[in-house]
Amino acid sequence: MTDLNHWWQQAIIYQCYLRSFNDSNGDGVGDLPGLIEKLDYLRRLGVDTLWISPFYPSPMADLGFDITDHTAVDPLFGTLADFDRLIAAAHQRQLKVLIDFVPNHTSKEHSWFVESRATRDNPRRNWYIWHDPASDGGPPTNWRTVFGGCPAWTFDPQTGQYYYHTYLPQQPDLNLRNPEVQAALLDILRFWLERGVDGFRIDALRQLIKDVQLRNNPPNPDYDKQMRPYTAVLPVHTTNQPEVHTLVTQMRQVLNAYGERLLLGEMYNSIEQTVSYYGEPGSGVQLPTNFQLMFRDWEAQSIAGLIEEYAAALPSHGWPNWIVGTHDQPRLVSRLGAAQARISAMLLFTLRGTIGMYYGDEIGMHDVPIPPDQVLDPQERLEPGMGRDPARTPMQWDSSPGAGFTRGKPWLPLAEDADTVNVAAQRDDPTALLTLYRRLIALRRATPALVLGDYRALTVDGNLLSFVREHAGQRLLVALNLGSQAATLEAGSRTIQGNIVLTTGLDRIGERVGASLALRGDEGVIVTLV
Ligand code: GLC
Repeated sequence: MTDLNHWWQQAIIYQCYLRSFNDSNGDGVGDLPGLIEKLDYLRRLGVDTLWISPFYPSPMADLGFDITDHTAVDPLFGTLADFDRLIAAAHQRQLKVLIDFVPNHTSKEHSWFVESRATRDNPRRNWYIWHDPASDGGPPTNWRTVFGGCPAWTFDPQTGQYYYHTYLPQQPDLNLRNPEVQAALLDILRFWLERGVDGFRIDALRQLIKDVQLRNNPPNPDYDKQMRPYTAVLPVHTTNQPEVHTLVTQMRQVLNAYGERLLLGEMYNSIEQTVSYYGEPGSGVQLPTNFQLMFRDWEAQSIAGLIEEYAAALPSHGWPNWIVGTHDQPRLVSRLGAAQARISAMLLFTLRGTIGMYYGDEIGMHDVPIPPDQVLDPQERLEPGMGRDPARTPMQWDSSPGAGFTRGKPWLPLAEDADTVNVAAQRDDPTALLTLYRRLIALRRATPALVLGDYRALTVDGNLLSFVREHAGQRLLVALNLGSQAATLEAGSRTIQGNIVLTTGLDRIGERVGASLALRGDEGVIVTLV
């Protein structure tokens, strides 16, 4: 795709982890009215699309990803009327709204599952994945849960069969091969489309269909004990099954009837598997999530290689996306350090495609250690050290005791530096990270070459990564120093003449560049070439 024909191609998607964004009623948990209060902040930041984590009724075994009603709002987060107000208020500000759609599983307390497990001949029995025990009475296959690598089958004594769950036993997987289940899920999409959502982030997309022949997953020859237990076997029969694409086509057809709405499909996949989800034009997800930047070595050669590899793998109708943070991964600052987090912001907003960022990264929030008695994420209990609570702590708005997030007791502890690292402290600071984010976003908006221009690698030299983005006669040079030592980009036979428009230090702006460009350690520079 070389033209901007769709709104989501230029989108900068801001993930709002609702529990932690802004609490309006003092119960210590973020909510929909709280989010509405902060829409002007998002506008000022410059993002244009919100993705809101689940707000549906839930026993919260997996913090809202275990749903008991997909078409309602949990009172913890507000009401359906609040949701409608949010859509109206967001649209009034030209902000699009994506919501989380969790089709893979429900809560075990969902009425569908309560019925399904009641008797073997219940009309909803086949809505979930039930099987007889293996001949030794154990689970039907060796399939493992994503959390903890435990057996992914739980025995239900009442009916003498096992049910399958990709994640927790409290999250039974729906049987998405069943046309009744498919129809029920498509109706959920319609329900929210009618309420005006601009699209969905599909949770756990690659897991939706499991092998019908119940073949065991093969052992992973590269596994060692340092790796997550889930990776001990290769999930070849539990992920990326061909029939998933048929489901995606059904979902896409529903969306297509509502004009230009977006499907963003969550997946932890290789590049090759990821791009297969673009499907045929008009039938796949528009954006299968590209999480590669979170996992590659933060090193010039590997990042340059990644950019090229991804571009080469995209189908001709596939529009790229780059996502650098989510509620499931350690925070940017904790992965890269504060100095390189600035470089990663410059890289992100100068790459081709749709951009996804995580709340709080714009002010440099870091992972917060959670005392054992305050751990809430089930993953931490199953895989100590892998818990996701540290990256989900309350947004730091100001230096008040509740960080401006709550007037009550926050549901997770606040960062110890919340009184200095916060929005109020950075709002008018000309060199703050928040200011850098705002400037980068504004520059991207004003510069089509950054969104859709061709990408041409210039140099990978030690820690220095440089490339040119070019569109319709507009050319920008991006030079990023991924190391802490000074480095110089020499023009050689290339032209790097121009003017600096932005640096990660928010200085040097307007400086002329001639035969060479000197970068300080941990510095990134954008030059408009003449
Ligand atoms: C997705 C979500 C994650 C959740 C899991 C199970 O990976 O991003 O937070 O725990 O699905 O629903």
